[in-house]
Amino acid sequence: MEAKDSKKKIILTGDRPTGKLHLGHYVGSLQRRVQLQDSGKYDEINILIADDQALTDNWDNPQKIRDNIIEVTLDYLSVGIDPDKTNICIQSGIPALHALTFYYMNLVTTQRLSRNPTVKAEMVQKGFSSAEGENDNNAGLPAGFFTYPVSQAADITAFKATTVPAGEDQEPMLEQARELVRKFNTTYKRDVLVEPEILLPENESQRRLPGLDGKAKMSKSLGNCIYLSDDAATVKKKIMGMYTDPEHINVADPGHVEGNMVFTYLDAFCRDDQFAEYLPDYQNLDEMKEHYKKGGLGDVKCKKFLIKVMEEMLSPIRESRAKWAARIPDVYDILKDGTGKAVKTTNQTMDEVRDAMRINYFEDRSIIQDWDTWINGKH
Ligand code: TRP
Repeated sequence: MEAKDSKKKIILTGDRPTGKLHLGHYVGSLQRRVQLQDSGKYDEINILIADDQALTDNWDNPQKIRDNIIEVTLDYLSVGIDPDKTNICIQSGIPALHALTFYYMNLVTTQRLSRNPTVKAEMVQKGFSSAEGENDNNAGLPAGFFTYPVSQAADITAFKATTVPAGEDQEPMLEQARELVRKFNTTYKRDVLVEPEILLPENESQRRLPGLDGKAKMSKSLGNCIYLSDDAATVKKKIMGMYTDPEHINVADPGHVEGNMVFTYLDAFCRDDQFAEYLPDYQNLDEMKEHYKKGGLGDVKCKKFLIKVMEEMLSPIRESRAKWAARIPDVYDILKDGTGKAVKTTNQTMDEVRDAMRINYFEDRSIIQDWDTWINGKH
């Protein structure tokens, strides 16, 4: 217990660089990362750009991954991730992650991997498996994709992360990582690896932002996103086209606020003081909702207010993004330095892993004694 309390608090989070980041990412994770970064409560914070993991279902399109490494990094920097406080690194440049994955493969069964609910859902989505079953046709399932939770366990444990801020969908990955840590430490009889904990979003509105069309999730594949890189005109157009209340046809009609995306977004983003500035007819969102429900408040007016609210938040991000985008060589150096640091940290873990397994033949001369006794016929 004591050792645990004195343990360093280390954060690792990651993203697959498969697309630019959108408002859903901002609400669900980016904002939180900036808060955690600025809280001063952690000894070390790492963000891993998981390009190798992204390749497990994009192996035929490395160009897409390559381009999005820069996009995602620009998104990080523009929301306030500070490279002096948060180490940003690229997975493929960190050899220890690959080595560790290989050893972990021995400590997990294929049956256990096939029970991972996140992977199962993705398998159905990608057509590798049908919704019904475990044992049906997985013939097209690439081994790399199937085993990515092992690689993710390597990501987390190579940094000896104690804390992984992530959404609920990542809980099965964390569970798998903890199992591997226990299995490793007991098999090789040394407490080298650290069990990580997930840090879930604090409140409901941080968890998941629905899409502009009212679908449960904002996602690139559904085409219902506002991107952090969208310009003001695009944001305006997207908000004007947002899903509201299909029964609210004339301004005078009573309207619904539940399931009405304009109000869902206002719930997530607007502050009372913004009413005085942009919509003085109301003191706060409750008053505005009351009027909408009674009838007499039109969608266009609501949307115009939402545009103001969103712009207040998005325009500084957009400006910062543009500044960083004009300094790509600096962005490149940030990634290079961050990856270099990560290589050092994770090589240290890998040394301990090899030592625990006694496979560090050329660093530990005492291993030669084993060979001596073998040569002398005592084995
Ligand atoms: N699986 C995560 C996602 O799809 C990305 C990821 C890769 C990650 N490695 C990680 C998240 C390590 C947390 C920790 O979003």
